[in-house]
Amino acid sequence: MIHEQLKIISKQLIAKDTVEMTFRGRMAQEKILPGQFLHLLVGEGTNHMLRRPISIAGVDRQASTITIIFKLLGEGTNTLAKAAPGDQLDALGPCGQGYPVDDLQLEKALLVGGGIGVPPLYYLAQCLKRKGVHVTMVAGFQNKAQVFYENQFRLLGNYYLATDDGSAGEKGFVTDIINAEKLDFDQYFTCGPTGMLKAVSTQLSNQEGFISIEQRMGCGIGACFACVVPAPDSANGYKKICKDGPVFRAKEVVL
Ligand code: FES
Repeated sequence: MIHEQLKIISKQLIAKDTVEMTFRGRMAQEKILPGQFLHLLVGEGTNHMLRRPISIAGVDRQASTITIIFKLLGEGTNTLAKAAPGDQLDALGPCGQGYPVDDLQLEKALLVGGGIGVPPLYYLAQCLKRKGVHVTMVAGFQNKAQVFYENQFRLLGNYYLATDDGSAGEKGFVTDIINAEKLDFDQYFTCGPTGMLKAVSTQLSNQEGFISIEQRMGCGIGACFACVVPAPDSANGYKKICKDGPVFRAKEVVL
């Protein structure tokens, strides 16, 4: 993990309340695994200065850029969205443990993402495709206005879309698609709200898989215990999402 002022080189709204932001910096030359995150200092110079963990949606080592996607969820992310190209942001990263792409032995991967859990899976899909793995992505959003990166995913493999209200793709949840399509895969990789992670890991309990937990964090570097999750087989009975995760083997933690 390094500490760097990352320069914003682009920012755009890619769906309702959803911002894609790209930075340039030497951090892009670090080894960055999908699932790892940046811990960005937001509101610098104000009374509301806080670091926000934002997962990495893409890395271009040649261009030395890192892309994040975040949703406008409150004061912190609204402040972050006001930063403009040319501005610099204080960043720690890459933080946490990502999907262990280099160690994986598989031919077919199922990726399941919900809402703001989708961005790290885009970077994962790129890494898996480079390894020659066949990728199937199942994405879930509330409605059509929230959908992003559909075309980008379609370029990397099979893509299925579900929305809660049926305004795009199939009406229903990602679990409905997994049920209906009888998808063939060796391992699954999922990221999204806790309810979705629970439903997916229960549905696929006979398969090997990884989950990435999206949760509010405090320090983001393992110092404050704000992010613990029960892990019955670990020495002290818990894991820290920010430091031991956010990616875990599905059977390693109890949601
Ligand atoms: Fe402080 Fe994880 S956020 S220990």
